[in-house]
Amino acid sequence: MKMCKWTWYKAILVLLIFFRHQLVGSSTATSSNAAKQKTALFQFKQSFRISTPKTINWSLSSDHCTWEGVSYDQSTGDVIGLDLSCSQLEGAILPNSTLFQLSHLQFLNLSQNDFSLSGQFPQQFGFFAQGLLHLNLSNTQFWGRVPSGISRLYKLILNLSRNNLSGVLPICQTNFSSLLVFDLPMNNIRGNIPATLSKIRYLETINLNSNQLEGRIPSSFAEFEFLQVLDLGNHQMNGAFPQCLEALPNLQVLVLKSNRFHGVKKKSSKIEHPFPSLRIIDLSYNEFSGPLPAIYLRNFKAMMNGEVNKIARSYMERQYYSDSTSLVIKGVDLVLERILTIFTTIDISSNNFEGKIAEYILEI
Ligand SMILES: *[C@@H]1O[C@H](CO)[C@@H](O)[C@H](O)[C@H]1NC(C)=O
Ligand SMILES: *[C@@H]1O[C@H](CO)[C@@H](O)[C@H](O)[C@H]1NC(C)=O
Ligand SMILES: *[C@@H]1O[C@H](CO)[C@@H](O)[C@H](O)[C@H]1NC(C)=O
Ligand SMILES: *[C@@H]1O[C@H](CO)[C@@H](O)[C@H](O)[C@H]1NC(C)=O
Ligand SMILES: *[C@@H]1O[C@H](CO)[C@@H](O)[C@H](O)[C@H]1NC(C)=O
Ligand SMILES: *[C@@H]1O[C@H](CO)[C@@H](O)[C@H](O)[C@H]1NC(C)=O
Ligand SMILES: *[C@@H]1O[C@H](CO)[C@@H](O)[C@H](O)[C@H]1NC(C)=O
Repeated sequence: MKMCKWTWYKAILVLLIFFRHQLVGSSTATSSNAAKQKTALFQFKQSFRISTPKTINWSLSSDHCTWEGVSYDQSTGDVIGLDLSCSQLEGAILPNSTLFQLSHLQFLNLSQNDFSLSGQFPQQFGFFAQGLLHLNLSNTQFWGRVPSGISRLYKLILNLSRNNLSGVLPICQTNFSSLLVFDLPMNNIRGNIPATLSKIRYLETINLNSNQLEGRIPSSFAEFEFLQVLDLGNHQMNGAFPQCLEALPNLQVLVLKSNRFHGVKKKSSKIEHPFPSLRIIDLSYNEFSGPLPAIYLRNFKAMMNGEVNKIARSYMERQYYSDSTSLVIKGVDLVLERILTIFTTIDISSNNFEGKIAEYILEI
């Protein structure tokens, strides 16, 4: 009996020591992870020749949680955000950059810097941080291919605008892909849009304005259940008016400006209310002819129906990103920083439309 009691004490003591060891062990692991991330950040800064106003005070003797542009998780110390946008960084981000050791990043904004010495766009951007939500590399002089892994990132808002990216669009063949915003205007993407783009099925915004796309809009675009903004302006795309888009329940903005779209399918719409949510349509500077748009214009419910507008407005206001799109109004280019949801516009100028267009527009 006595012996047994002693054994219990001993066992509890051993357990206590064990747990204590576990606890100390795990907090050491946490802080050593945080220390590794601090070193990685510091080396990333050092990989550029000059310190920028934001990084000038990054020093190994201070806590990296106080460094400008760095956000961290308060419980683990992990670096979860880095904003060095517009920081006059000049140089290269190579595949072995210590930036890619920051695997806990959720927000990365390096926009408006000059990484033209990087060579090919590092494919590591596509898989180094599985929890990335915002990747902003707009206007950073990157060139090369868009990493194919990027479409696999969950709920990513991706801004690659104003670079010199080329090559095929990234397509991921799984259904798990859920890129939300794919912003790639003003790059150098050529060729046809692959039909498999619609596999990225949760896309809400596709902005490919001002690249060098050709061919037609794939009929698989009819599968984009959540698409709100489709901007394919300024390409050499052709084909008939993309009837495949007419059933998209959430499409609010359709920009096909400055292409070679032409022709009108004679068959009338099978759907009672085509384009139920459309608010902004820009078909200007194409080769459209015939009466087609009148059929659609009459049906642009969102433009006529105040109730739909209200729902759309509150929906857009919930978004934490802003969409910008270039509109032509009476030949004048305007850039809307945010789509004004009470704003409705139609531009069909510089085509060869005929028929009763004016009449229908008056109704709207
Ligand atoms: C950097 O540190 C110096 C001295 O500690 C301070 O005067 C300066 O304002 C800091 N700069 C920034 C950008 O925080
Ligand atoms: C990364 O690779 C380049 C050559 O590709 C090399 O010069 C550089 O030292 C490497 N940097 C690190 C941090 O390993
Ligand atoms: C950098 O990008 C993030 C998200 O992409 C955004 O929240 C932040 O405001 C941007 N910073 C600047 C200075 O625009
Ligand atoms: C990216 O950074 C630019 C400024 O450089 C900013 O205008 C934009 O809102 C940022 N966020 C996203 C999601 O692109
Ligand atoms: C992407 O960044 C540019 C600035 O270079 C900005 O104008 C644009 O609004 C951003 N796109 C999104 C979706 O935030
Ligand atoms: C864009 O990238 C291509 C290589 O893909 C290169 O030949 C061309 O000079 C680059 N253009 C600019 C303006 O940097
Ligand atoms: C994706 O989903 C569709 C139907 O939703 C299914 O037919 C297809 O087999 C799925 N593909 C994969 C790779 O899971």
